[in-house]
Amino acid sequence: MFYFHLPDNKLKIACDFLFYDVFINCLELKPIVAWKLRNAKENQFYYFLSLIKQAVECLMAGKPVLSADRLKKGTYMSQYPQWYYDEFKQIGVDYTDLEEAQAYDLRMQALRDTENEANNLRELLGIKNTDRILEIGTGTGELALKLSEHCKKIVAIDVSKTMVEFAKMKAESQNKKSIQFYTAGFLTYEHCTEPFDVIITQLALHHLPDYWKLIALRRVYGMLREGGKFYLLDVVFPSQIRDYDSYFNKIITNLRETAGNELAEETETHIREEFSTLDWIMEGLLKSAGFYIESVNYDGFMAGYLCRK
Ligand SMILES: C[S@@+](CC[C@H](N)C(=O)[O-])C[C@H]1O[C@@H](n2cnc3c(N)ncnc32)[C@H](O)[C@@H]1O
Repeated sequence: MFYFHLPDNKLKIACDFLFYDVFINCLELKPIVAWKLRNAKENQFYYFLSLIKQAVECLMAGKPVLSADRLKKGTYMSQYPQWYYDEFKQIGVDYTDLEEAQAYDLRMQALRDTENEANNLRELLGIKNTDRILEIGTGTGELALKLSEHCKKIVAIDVSKTMVEFAKMKAESQNKKSIQFYTAGFLTYEHCTEPFDVIITQLALHHLPDYWKLIALRRVYGMLREGGKFYLLDVVFPSQIRDYDSYFNKIITNLRETAGNELAEETETHIREEFSTLDWIMEGLLKSAGFYIESVNYDGFMAGYLCRK
C-alpha cells in the first residue's frame, strides 16, 4: 500500500484528508499512483488526493471507480466517447490562466457584493445547517466559502484546475475545512453518495452549447433529492429586443464607463464566443430536464431561476 512509501508530512495530510480507516480498508493503489503521490508538488498532491477521495466514495457506494487515466494531466476526457463534449476546453475567457484567477476576485469586488449575494441566496433557498450543497462552476470559491458556515456539507467543483487550486488555497487560509473541492464540471462530475438538498450554479452554464446545457441540467436533476432546490444564475438574452445592435452597443458603452475597459472587452468576448442563450430557450431547457420553475428574475441580461425537483 502506498502509505508505507510516503514521507510523514504527506502521510499525515493524506490521512486527515481521506479518513484514514476508509482509505486503508478500501483502496489498493497501483504503484504508479503511489509514485505520483510521493513525487507530487504540494498543489498536485491535493489534486491527486481529491481524485482518490472521489474513487473511495464511488467504491463505498458500489459504483465503478473512475479510470486511473484521470490521474494523468490532460486526459480527463479519455473515458468518454469521441462525440462527448470536452468541457475542459476553455471557450471565451480562459479561466485556466493563473493571472485570470488571481484578478477575478478583485474585478468582481468592483461589481458585486458577494456577502450580500450569499445572504440573499441563503434566504431565497432557505438553506439550513443540515443541507448538503453542490456548487458547480465555483470559480475562486467565494460563494462556497460563505455558505460553508451555514450548511452540513458543501462540494464545490469547477473545470478549471487553476480556479479550484486558488479556491482551495483561500479555504485553507481562512481555515474552512468543510468544503470539498474537485476539478470537474456539469458533464463530468460523478456524485456517488447521498443526493444534494441544494445545487447552485452562477455564471457558468453559458460555457456549454444548448444541447449540452440540457444534458448538464438533466445531470443536475439526477444529483438532487426529491423536492430539492436548484438555483441557476446566468447571462441569458431577452428575446423581446427588436434592435440587438443598439441593445448590445449600449450595454458595452455603459460597462466601459462604469466598470472600465477590461470588463467591457470581456463582455464583448462573452457575446461573441460564449454560449449564452435566449430566455425562452433557457426556460424550456429547465422544464425539459424535469424542473418546476418556482420563480424567475430577469434583470437586463442577467437571469436567476429558482427551481424545484
Ligand atoms: C464567470 S466564472 C463564475 C465563477 C463564480 N461562479 C462566480 O459567480 O463568480 C465561470 C466559471 O465557470 C467555470 N466553468 C466553465 N465551464 C464549466 C463547466 N462545464 N462546468 C463547471 N464549471 C465550468 C469556469 O472555469 C469559471 O471558473
